[in-house]
Amino acid sequence: MVKVAVLPGDGIGPEIMEGAMVVIKKVAQTFGIDFEFRYGEFGGTAYDSAGTPFPRETKKLVAESDAVLLGAVGGPKWDNLDRKLRPESALLELRKSLDLYCNLRPVKYYPILANKVAWKPSYLEGVDIVFLRELTGGAYFGEKGKTEDGAYDTISYTRDEIARLVQRGFELAQKRKKVLHSIDKANVLETSRLWREVVTHLNSKYPDVKVEHLYVDNAAFQLVINPQQFDVIVTENMFGDILSDQGAAIAGSLGMLPSASLGSRINLYEPAHGSAPDLAGQDKANPIATILSAALLLRFTCNREDAAQGVEKAVEKVLAAGYATGDIAGEGSKVVGTKEMAELIAQSI
Ligand code: IPM
Ligand code: MN
Repeated sequence: MVKVAVLPGDGIGPEIMEGAMVVIKKVAQTFGIDFEFRYGEFGGTAYDSAGTPFPRETKKLVAESDAVLLGAVGGPKWDNLDRKLRPESALLELRKSLDLYCNLRPVKYYPILANKVAWKPSYLEGVDIVFLRELTGGAYFGEKGKTEDGAYDTISYTRDEIARLVQRGFELAQKRKKVLHSIDKANVLETSRLWREVVTHLNSKYPDVKVEHLYVDNAAFQLVINPQQFDVIVTENMFGDILSDQGAAIAGSLGMLPSASLGSRINLYEPAHGSAPDLAGQDKANPIATILSAALLLRFTCNREDAAQGVEKAVEKVLAAGYATGDIAGEGSKVVGTKEMAELIAQSI
């Protein structure tokens, strides 16, 4: 029995989660996987009802689970709260408390969405990149403060924090194309120089992997002019946040980008996009990023590669049949809502 804590969150969160649940329940049936789903309050809606974005009951629920499936958090309604009460703080606390240092974000080009991307298709043919973003260090968690006339955030990393993420990058690169791009700002930042040192040192343990070091500004440029050169990318927390959104443009929409946050035990699966308050409650949001995040749960928590691929193939089939939510619709698309998209994918499992 795989126990999953389901945290729909704010904005479009509840709708995309409902879509993912339709699909995962169909997978459970088809592939014979036994799940227990328990729902919890998290984010701004939790703040509204419980006075805190990460209530004690939700912490207990998470601790008793094998995995967490999360929708999205945040919205203008909570933007002026104290930092610690903001929905985003709950997300950071969740990531930190489970020690989810490795955020995996696969970016794939879907030829069927060729008219939605900003590139000529020939630039994207075969693009399949895995971002490994360090998730529990850097500016997100360093000392911060605000004074009368200033404010500061601190980026700090230990060797071990870098090494455990980079190690995963080498392992993945070994199973793939044996190329690892490490992205930093070593011409300016001390933490980046340490990052580069750790990568170079670890490379001796994985001599068959070719490492390319790139400065983050150049990486942003290279991602646009020649995305085909990348396969596995390792980078620190904030660079990974920014570059993975940029990478999502390759998939045609932020609504296509799933993520898995991996630690040592309880993993978190969530779409890489936000809560899109402007779309909330209208059955318009793209549930695919959340559905593909559920596929990553099947892959990494359940160890069911067959079921994970079952979901990924079902998504491709439905897209290939011309169905699209508004964000990925083009000429000739059959535009469907969140619910219908999820049902079509479930039927294709
Ligand atoms: C993401 C999001 C979060 C982040 C926000 C909501 C705190 O943008 O998962 O990429 O910056 O990590
Ligand atoms: Mn982000």
